[in-house]
Amino acid sequence: MSKRVAIVGAGPSGLAQLRAFQSAAQKGAEIPEIVCFETQDDWGGLWNYTWRTGLDEYGEPVHCSMYRYLWSNGPKEGLEFADYTFEEHFGKPIASYPPRSVLFDYIEGRVKKADVRKWIRFRTPVRRVSYDEGSGMFTVTVHDLVNDNEYSEDFDHVVVASGHFSTPNVPHFEGFSTFNGRVLHAHDFRDALEFKDKDILIIGTSYSAEDIGSQCWKYGCKSVTVSHRTAPMGYKWPDNWKEVPLLQKVERNTCTFKDGSTADVDAIILCTGYLHHFPFMQESLKLRTANRLATADLYKGVVFVDNPKLFYLGMQDQWFTFNMFDAQAWYVRDIIMDKIAVPDRDARAADVVERVAAEDGLEDDYGCIRYQGDYVRELIADTDYPSFDIDGANEAFFQWKKHKKQDIMTFRNNGYRSVMTGTMAPAHHTPWKDAMDDSLESYLETPGEAAQ
Ligand SMILES: Cc1cc2nc3c(=O)[nH]c(=O)nc-3n(C[C@H](O)[C@H](O)[C@H](O)COP(=O)(O)OP(=O)(O)OC[C@H]3O[C@@H](n4cnc5c(N)ncnc54)[C@H](O)[C@@H]3O)c2cc1C
Ligand SMILES: NC(=O)c1ccc[n+]([C@@H]2O[C@H](COP(=O)([O-])OP(=O)(O)OC[C@H]3O[C@@H](n4cnc5c(N)ncnc54)[C@H](OP(=O)(O)O)[C@@H]3O)[C@@H](O)[C@H]2O)c1
Repeated sequence: MSKRVAIVGAGPSGLAQLRAFQSAAQKGAEIPEIVCFETQDDWGGLWNYTWRTGLDEYGEPVHCSMYRYLWSNGPKEGLEFADYTFEEHFGKPIASYPPRSVLFDYIEGRVKKADVRKWIRFRTPVRRVSYDEGSGMFTVTVHDLVNDNEYSEDFDHVVVASGHFSTPNVPHFEGFSTFNGRVLHAHDFRDALEFKDKDILIIGTSYSAEDIGSQCWKYGCKSVTVSHRTAPMGYKWPDNWKEVPLLQKVERNTCTFKDGSTADVDAIILCTGYLHHFPFMQESLKLRTANRLATADLYKGVVFVDNPKLFYLGMQDQWFTFNMFDAQAWYVRDIIMDKIAVPDRDARAADVVERVAAEDGLEDDYGCIRYQGDYVRELIADTDYPSFDIDGANEAFFQWKKHKKQDIMTFRNNGYRSVMTGTMAPAHHTPWKDAMDDSLESYLETPGEAAQ
C-alpha cells in the first residue's frame, strides 16, 4: 500500500491509532506508511507528567494538565483496553482507581509490546496542515526542535489526535489584578502541598474542581470554597469546604459572590475547563466544537464532514476514554484501508445532526454514559476490535456515580469487575485519603507488603 498517513500526537488517542495499524499488519495486512509527530520527548500525552508549566525548554506550550498525586477519577474497568488487559500488563489484579504513574505504565505496556515507537518523531510539533484540492494531498509542516529545522511532507490522510484538555479556558473576574495571592488555572496546578494551610477558592464545578479541591483537602489546606456559575456539585463535603454562587469581584484577598457573601482566600484556582485549539490546522480543516459527546462536524465522531480524508480522534467529552479511542482508531484505520466506506457529504452532515439531537434529548448522566457506550459499541461492530461487554462497563460507571454520592472522599476505596477478564478488583491496601504516596511501587504493593 503506497498511502502515507500522518498522526498528530502520541497520547492515548494517537497511540491507539498506531496500535490499530500495527494490529492489522500483525494479521498480515499491507498497511500504509505511518508517521506520528509528537511535540513532547515521550509518549502518553497528558499522562506524561512534567513539573514544568507555561513554556518548555524549547519555548513550546507545556501540554501536561496533570498533577502530582492524581488518581484516576473513574474506575479503570471503564477504560480497559479490550486487547490488553490490566491483568496481562501487571500480572495480577489491581485496585480500581490507579494513580497516574500506574496508568502511564499500562498505556506504555501495550505500545511497547506492539513495537510502534519507531513510527514516532518526538520533539516534532506540527506547525501547519493544509490540503491541496488538485493533488488531493495534505502538506504537513513540522518543526524538528532538536535540530531547529522546519520541513514539510505530503500525506494522503491526516489523523489529528492532539487532545483537547491542554489549552486552558481562562475567564477574567473583576479585581483579579489587585489580588494579593496566586491566581492559576488547573492546567498549571502541580502539587497540592503548595496550598497546605491555605484558604483556597476554586471556580468551576466539574472534575478538575472536585479533584483539585479534594487533593488540597487531602494534603492539608485550611479551607476550600467552590464557586459555581450554574449549580453547586452538591456532594457531602468535609466541614472545611463550602459551595458558593459565582464570584463577582476580588478586592485584595476578599472575594465577593453573587449572593453578597464574602470569603478571604490565599489562592484562586480556575477550574474552568479547556478549549479545543488547533492553531496548526488550515482554517477550512479546523474543528470547531464545544466539549460535548456529539462533536460538531465529525461524521461517526471521527471523520471531518468537509474533508473525509481528515480525521479527529478523542475530541468528545469523555466518560469512556482509552477503549473509546481504540474503537475510533480501528474505525479510522478501516476507512483508510478501504474496508469501510464513507457516505457523501449530505449523509455525513445528517449523521452529525442526528447525534447532536440524540445527545440533546438525554436526561441525566446515566443517559450520557449509555449514549457514549452505545457509540463505542456502534464503531466496534464494524471492525475487528475485540468486542466487550459495554453494558458491564456502563454498570461500573453507574456504581462509581453512586459511590461518589455516598461519600466523595471514599469513593476510590471501591472495586469493580473487569468486563474483559471477569475478575473483581481487590480493595486497595490503603484508603485513598491516607495514601500519600502515589508512586507505582506503592500502589502495586500487596496488602501484606504495605503493612510492613
Ligand atoms: C487533569 C486531567 C485528568 C484526567 N484524568 C483522567 C482519568 O483519570 N481517566 C481517564 O480515562 N481520562 C482522564 N483524563 C482525560 C484525558 O483526556 C484522556 O485520558 C487522554 O489523555 C486523552 O488522550 P488524547 O491522546 O486524546 O490527548 P492527550 O493525552 O492530550 O495527548 C495529545 C498529544 O498530542 C500532542 N500534541 C498536541 N499538539 C501537537 C502538535 N501540534 N504537534 C505534535 N504533537 C502535538 C501532545 O503533546 C500530546 O502528547 C484526564 C484529563 C485531564 C486534563
Ligand atoms: N483525577 C482525574 O482523573 C481528573 C481530574 C481533573 C480533571 N479530569 C478530567 O479533565 C477533563 C476536564 O475537566 P474540567 O473539570 O477541567 O473541565 P470541564 O469538565 O469542561 O468543566 C469546566 C467547568 O468550568 C466551568 N466554567 C467554565 N467557564 C466558566 C466561567 N466563565 N465562570 C465560571 N465557571 C466556568 C463550567 O461551569 P458550567 O457548569 O457553569 O458550565 C464547568 O464547571 C475531564 O475529562 C475530566 O475527567 C480528571
